[in-house]
Amino acid sequence: MESGKRIKIAQLLKSEPGISTLVKGWVRTKRGNKNVAFVALNDGSTVNNIQIVFDMTRFTEEQLKPVTTGACIAVEGTLTASPGGGQSVEILAEQLLVYGTADADTYPLQKKGHSMEFLREIGHLRPRTNTFGCVFRIRHAMAFAIHKFFNDKGFFYLHTPIVTASDAEGAGAMFQVTTLDLNNIPRDENNKIDYTQDFFGRASNLTVSGQLEGELGAMALGEIYTFGPTFRAENSNTPRHLAEFWMIEPEMAFYEIKDNMDLAEEFIKYLVKYAIDNCSDDLKFLNDMFDKELLERLQSVVETDFVRLSYTEGVEILMNSGVKFEFPVYWGADLQSEHERYLVEKHFKRPVILTDYPKEIKAFYMKQNEDGKTVRAMDVLFPKIGEIIGGSQREESLEKLEARIQEMGMEKDGMWWYLDTRRFGTAPHSGFGLGFERLLLFVTGMSNIRDVIPFPRTPKNAEF
Ligand code: 4AD
Ligand code: MG
Repeated sequence: MESGKRIKIAQLLKSEPGISTLVKGWVRTKRGNKNVAFVALNDGSTVNNIQIVFDMTRFTEEQLKPVTTGACIAVEGTLTASPGGGQSVEILAEQLLVYGTADADTYPLQKKGHSMEFLREIGHLRPRTNTFGCVFRIRHAMAFAIHKFFNDKGFFYLHTPIVTASDAEGAGAMFQVTTLDLNNIPRDENNKIDYTQDFFGRASNLTVSGQLEGELGAMALGEIYTFGPTFRAENSNTPRHLAEFWMIEPEMAFYEIKDNMDLAEEFIKYLVKYAIDNCSDDLKFLNDMFDKELLERLQSVVETDFVRLSYTEGVEILMNSGVKFEFPVYWGADLQSEHERYLVEKHFKRPVILTDYPKEIKAFYMKQNEDGKTVRAMDVLFPKIGEIIGGSQREESLEKLEARIQEMGMEKDGMWWYLDTRRFGTAPHSGFGLGFERLLLFVTGMSNIRDVIPFPRTPKNAEF
């Protein structure tokens, strides 16, 4: 029996009755009586289960005993039209093989309706729930759509390094990478750590962003994107922050800020539409179980133009709103998600792209505006999420970039390779970063970012 080729449930549910088939998967439920047993089987290919009917004149009770919730089985049988409601086909079982049992007294997913918090504690098993099956299938579909979007536009996927000596965002929240013996750290004559003895011969860290290397690619290949894991050691325990998250960073030569905004808007709409068109079963499940407005919200983002306005205008709206925010709003303040969500959810009721932020709250590489106070930044703000994209036009003038690096007290020596792009054949260019898990929060309607990544890395949490 094992020699046959299994057919996935997603395919079986679309097949015509009559064929003989082999199906393999995990038991969701079993019910029945002395004459017949019904098993709902799931193999992860779809949120939908296939019903397997065991005629008890062909099977013994002893044989069916280990077929309990969570057990893994293979069944050979005939696909037949289902007389019961809820499914069009079912399998009439002829042979059964139990690969692995799941003890009913100890299997943690015995019943339905566990809390998200509990499921995080059993992160090794939560992919077996309907909810996480849906989320991870959607996650896959979105990753695929990202590559398709850029490939169709002639962008090149550039692999930027995960280990680097550079601090792209200048935020200083980095994980250090070292092979030095922490119990016996080598020191130089000034008692400073002697990194020349470290693996890379210098202090290095996990990347916070692939952008700076991405710019090198854009200044040669024209239009590139990165898509990889990024790491931030900020101790922010919020429903929107991870210490390890995936980011998509396109970088385009000859794009001004307006082109950058157009691309960002087109990109997100493409991805949301792709999910609506290709993940309908999973989205419907999440919509019905968690968030009755999910499908409506997704559709509305695809259909509406994003609002575009300056930070200065945004701050005016917030200051005139009469709302008492937890964090005060004034020109120069870094906007918090409560402010971003007010603009999106209450004031405009659609996504907003805010531009031209004060230079003090943005990274060194952003193009400086004539006013001497603001930079050509753009943040895309989304309902329920706040900031989903951060980007900018880049400062292409060597002189202005060097001045800004100095002004910010940054270490210029380690930046020579980046500055060379401005020294040799510089050009206007722009890019942005989309937080992959923030996108997934929006698309799945999940409310905690830990629930859209298979293995969330957060403070004090990295066991497996
Ligand atoms: O705004 P950020 O910090 O921008 C950059 O890193 C730029 N280098 C991007 C670029 O221009 N190429 O981060 C970009 C996005 C944010 O808008 C957010 O969606 C996500 O990355 N993000 C996080 N997602 C999860 N957990 C965190 N700790 C995140 N920090 C940022
Ligand atoms: Mg940002």
